[in-house]
Amino acid sequence: MKDVIIACDFGSAEEALSFLDKFSGCERKPFVKIGMELFYGAGPGIVREIKRRGHRIFLDLKLHDIPNTVKKTMKVLSSLDVDMTNLHAAGTIDMMKAAVEGLTRPDGSRPLLVAVTQLTSTSEDRMQKELLIDGKIEDVISQYAANAKEAGLDGVVCSPLEASLVKRRCGESFLAVTPGIRFADSATDDQVRITTPAGARDKGSDFIVVGRPVTAAADPVAAYLRCVKEFLG
Ligand code: C5P
Repeated sequence: MKDVIIACDFGSAEEALSFLDKFSGCERKPFVKIGMELFYGAGPGIVREIKRRGHRIFLDLKLHDIPNTVKKTMKVLSSLDVDMTNLHAAGTIDMMKAAVEGLTRPDGSRPLLVAVTQLTSTSEDRMQKELLIDGKIEDVISQYAANAKEAGLDGVVCSPLEASLVKRRCGESFLAVTPGIRFADSATDDQVRITTPAGARDKGSDFIVVGRPVTAAADPVAAYLRCVKEFLG
């Protein structure tokens, strides 16, 4: 189940596909994350094309709306045949339950569904002062993860540094999907709470999401294979 997901953060189908062309000779077809930038820029056709090329897809659209709207939208996403998608846990347990219903196909199968707890760009100070959420950010993350579990989700998106917290509260099989990955010798960019692929493995991550260390590398295939080797051993 554990895998490395490449965040394909490009603004157009052409850029994304020419990036993925580099992997055509690679024995391992990378699991690919399509986020808002690529989905809104290129439209749903990009999901079908990347799927047609044999990649597994994490569609990272972070839904957050009333339960009925989320349910109907998840039904649309399910028909795109993605392997994983997500929403904001802040939408409540009812919203997350509606999402599971919408995502479930008539045969009972569905893509993996994970919840964003607190964005890694949100500090504890801002959460308390702007969002008026009292308490420690770790407690909020832990509670949101428990809510996601209660709603029937498969896991959460969190910092690798929070993976063990989530596992302690929700069990080992509850997935921790973790961005914020950097090689020991690469730039941190705008990420703050980071760790290496090997560090994420040691902290219990199930899937690491890696963007710029692969997409901006001089040799993206070598960088991807380095991630795979460090994370999966
Ligand atoms: O380039 P980089 O490795 O920082 O990319 C990380 C990816 O993970 C981006 O697509 C970013 O939107 C996403 N992400 C994140 N932190 C979160 C949730 C998603 O970095 N908390």
